[in-house]
Amino acid sequence: MIPLCVPHLAGNEWAYIKDCLDTNWVSATGQYVNRFEKALAEYTGAAHAVAVSSGTTALHISLIVSGIQPGDFVIVPNLTFVATANVVKYMGAHPLLCDIDPDTYLLDLDLLEEFLENETELRDGTAIHRATGRPVRALMPVHVLGNLFDMERMLALCERFHLILIEDTAEALGSFYKGQHAGTFGRMGCLSFNGNKIITTGGGGIILTNNEADARRAKHLTMQAKASTLEYLHDEVGYNYRLVNILAAMGVAQMELLPDFVRRKQEINRFYEQAFAGLEGLRFQRLNEGVSSNCWHVVVRTPRRDELVQHLAQNGVESRPLWIPMNRLPAFTQDWYISRHDHTAAVAGEGIMLPCSTSITDDELQTVCGLVRSFHQQSVPVPAS
Ligand SMILES: Cc1ncc(COP(=O)(O)O)c(C=O)c1O
Repeated sequence: MIPLCVPHLAGNEWAYIKDCLDTNWVSATGQYVNRFEKALAEYTGAAHAVAVSSGTTALHISLIVSGIQPGDFVIVPNLTFVATANVVKYMGAHPLLCDIDPDTYLLDLDLLEEFLENETELRDGTAIHRATGRPVRALMPVHVLGNLFDMERMLALCERFHLILIEDTAEALGSFYKGQHAGTFGRMGCLSFNGNKIITTGGGGIILTNNEADARRAKHLTMQAKASTLEYLHDEVGYNYRLVNILAAMGVAQMELLPDFVRRKQEINRFYEQAFAGLEGLRFQRLNEGVSSNCWHVVVRTPRRDELVQHLAQNGVESRPLWIPMNRLPAFTQDWYISRHDHTAAVAGEGIMLPCSTSITDDELQTVCGLVRSFHQQSVPVPAS
């Protein structure tokens, strides 16, 4: 089986984890947590990096630190992994789902601007949605598959409508816009180190921020809001959202490999682009101008997606349909959806995620591409024995 996207443990993972075991520093604190945070801050250029237990918990803590209140609207894309919308619900707030651009797969800023202009008004420095009376408090865009927005435009929009910007950067470690790393433009940026991400700690995340007070509060909240190292004194409701030292050790080793991983992901993307050049009806994500993408995941659009997933599976290749739109999941069907053409449905209905582990070989890529090409040209090959 050629897997979809698996971890690539090719460096010092064993050595650093063994060091944790040998020294008994396996839990909440230790030098690897500090080293991992420092490595992330250095690589991304963020002033602070706070290690947490997952991308989801990074987003949750960011919403708390940003002061999101129950009843607020938080704008999120309709095309994303479910965690982006879930965390808004954790707050008792409402996801304000926004349709996407059908080429970049990113939240459509034209559509959003029009909505904010026509359907909200500023009252006491807060954009209020006229129809519901709800404050539109924050924008949580997703840098889908490693693509970034026109960030100058996004920042201007946030300033004009007084929106807090929290970037869901789960998929974009190694992606830059005009030389600036994803997740460092807004108040906070959240990374994921889930097993399918460009680097992994098994499970883990990081909050990036340039604001020292936010970093301190985020750290505090992830450690049960512990106010004393001696007594069991906790000064607010806290969370056990820390990244433990043994997982941070894996993260430090993975960070050493990140530049190679980014290069390989970009190569894999080019490989697919070249192999599928000229195949009518197969479309790739369009990158925005000024973006250097980490090419985290290869997704192509094809009208016969479900048949293709099946065909690949029958021939030993794992693939997956792209996410189901948020507005079609039971938890979000009642939520507000800003859309004119429902591009999300079109992209989600046709998008297929193709194998792109950094450890995939060129021969394996050739196999996948051969299967896709022959399927596309209608001459279905004989299944592999
Ligand atoms: C866009 C997006 N947001 C959030 C997450 C959640 O991250 P985690 O699985 O580490 O909780 C993921 C991926 O898993 C993601 O792709």
